Amino acid sequence: MTEKPLISIEGIARRYPAPGRQTTTIFENLWLPIRRGEFVCMIGHSGCGKTTVLNILAGLDAPSDGEVIVDGKAISGPSLDRAVIFQSHALLPWRTVLGNVAFAVKSRWPKRAKEAIEEQARRFIELVGLGGSERKRPAELSGGMKQRVGIARALSIEPKILLMDEPFSALDALTRGTLQDEVRRICLDTGQTTFMITHDVDEAIYLADRIVLMTNGPGARIAEIVENPLPRERSRIDLHRHPHYYALRNHLIDFLVTRSRTLRDQPADGHDPRHPPVVRPSAAPELVVTTPGDAATLPLAAAHKH
Ligand SMILES: Nc1ncnc2c1ncn2[C@@H]1O[C@H](COP(=O)(O)OP(=O)(O)OP(=O)(O)O)[C@@H](O)[C@H]1O
Ligand SMILES: [Mg+2]
Repeated sequence: MTEKPLISIEGIARRYPAPGRQTTTIFENLWLPIRRGEFVCMIGHSGCGKTTVLNILAGLDAPSDGEVIVDGKAISGPSLDRAVIFQSHALLPWRTVLGNVAFAVKSRWPKRAKEAIEEQARRFIELVGLGGSERKRPAELSGGMKQRVGIARALSIEPKILLMDEPFSALDALTRGTLQDEVRRICLDTGQTTFMITHDVDEAIYLADRIVLMTNGPGARIAEIVENPLPRERSRIDLHRHPHYYALRNHLIDFLVTRSRTLRDQPADGHDPRHPPVVRPSAAPELVVTTPGDAATLPLAAAHKH
């Protein structure tokens, strides 16, 4: 594995100076390579800095230290190479479904003919299951449908990176499940590189290739990177039948319930921020696969040995 990562988070920190008080360090020394086509989820308690990391990846916020390299270039601001799906969809209320998606397509390819723009927009509206609703306005749509438009809009610009901040958290369980299926199918079919924040352990297990666990803030750090031991061809309904499922789920829940706090309060002795421990929970005794090496290639290279 010598492939260069598409995204390389290199020692980023975010600090908020407060006049007359101590500067708050939300997180520091965060390192994370993400391969092309990989689906990475980040999990951690409220306030540990997940949205801040996502905003930095989007170019909407700048790190106080370190940098993020995408495809060989340091991020210096927002770009249409990186599409964001927020928790609330932020659609233009006066535009139709088609108008909202076409607006994004046009900003990506301003010289394209109107027909080609609409064709691209329709393709993605179809893909998220909204064919037939092109002429509706956001006020006429359910929450799940609005979120679908947000997903269609993000994907329609064919971004190098898809960034999602708890995109399904406001939806009912049924709609959430359907949208998770759709996003997973689209990401697999198109080889979409994705970084997603979630609070939902099962969502991470279903969608992610790797799950990044953050300790509690302030001063949060990547405690561990969990490799998903389930086969890539997995389905949401029989996830729990897989022999490794409960080991993985328990590992993630144990982390959220206790270790995210105890790890923060412990001195980080021997913790190498460039090479956080990589763990692959399984029905057999737990495997810690970290070895010193190139952070960019470590997780997969190590995983392949097992
Ligand atoms: N402008 C600001 N000034 C000071 N502190 C800030 C500012 N913006 C964010 N913070 C702090 O940064 C921390 C991280 O915020 P962030 O929104 O990234 O957390 P999060 O992990 O996404 O939480 P949640 O799970 O609740 O969405 C929080 O403690 C927040 O109070
Ligand atoms: Mg957040």
